Amino acid sequence: MTYQQIEQVAKNKLSEKRFYHSQCVAEQCEVLAKIYNVPIEKAKLVGIAHDIAKEMEKEEMKQYAKENAIEIDEIEKHHIKLLHAKIGADICKKQFLFDEQMVRAIEAHTTGKKEMDILAKILFVADAIGDDRNWEDLEEIRSIAKKDINSAVLYILDLNIKERIEKKKLIHIDSIDCRNELLM
Ligand SMILES: [Fe+2]
Ligand SMILES: [Fe+2]
Repeated sequence: MTYQQIEQVAKNKLSEKRFYHSQCVAEQCEVLAKIYNVPIEKAKLVGIAHDIAKEMEKEEMKQYAKENAIEIDEIEKHHIKLLHAKIGADICKKQFLFDEQMVRAIEAHTTGKKEMDILAKILFVADAIGDDRNWEDLEEIRSIAKKDINSAVLYILDLNIKERIEKKKLIHIDSIDCRNELLM
């Protein structure tokens, strides 16, 4: 499917706020793709599509996972919304016909993962630095992202993990694995 078609699907499926977020992420994906020599079209596509499953109801997510043989891990069981990454990736593969690399990027976009390639890292970072975000570190992370994508991934992981610790929330093992890999 073309970018315009997928953008239209996203517009129909998502709230105005989430659709705007997706557009902002696609925009940041484009900026980073140019810097890191990644095909711009691919980067924009994963950006606009990455949260396509984010607003599914919890029951709908469980149902989708069951029907499409998506494994739900221990952490996801307690935090069903995390599944939007795996389900979104599945939708992108089956309905939008994304290639393997793009599917893997979408799978990794929420927690981070070991062995993320450059496209996955770009999406992970772009998700955090769109115009819709308004944290105080925004400009700082944007400038890191343009110079060193690994440092930007680490920075964002650390922010997320710190926040989850403060709020006494579960931390997905994939985030820890991703972080350790970047530090090793
Ligand atoms: Fe997401
Ligand atoms: Fe997102």
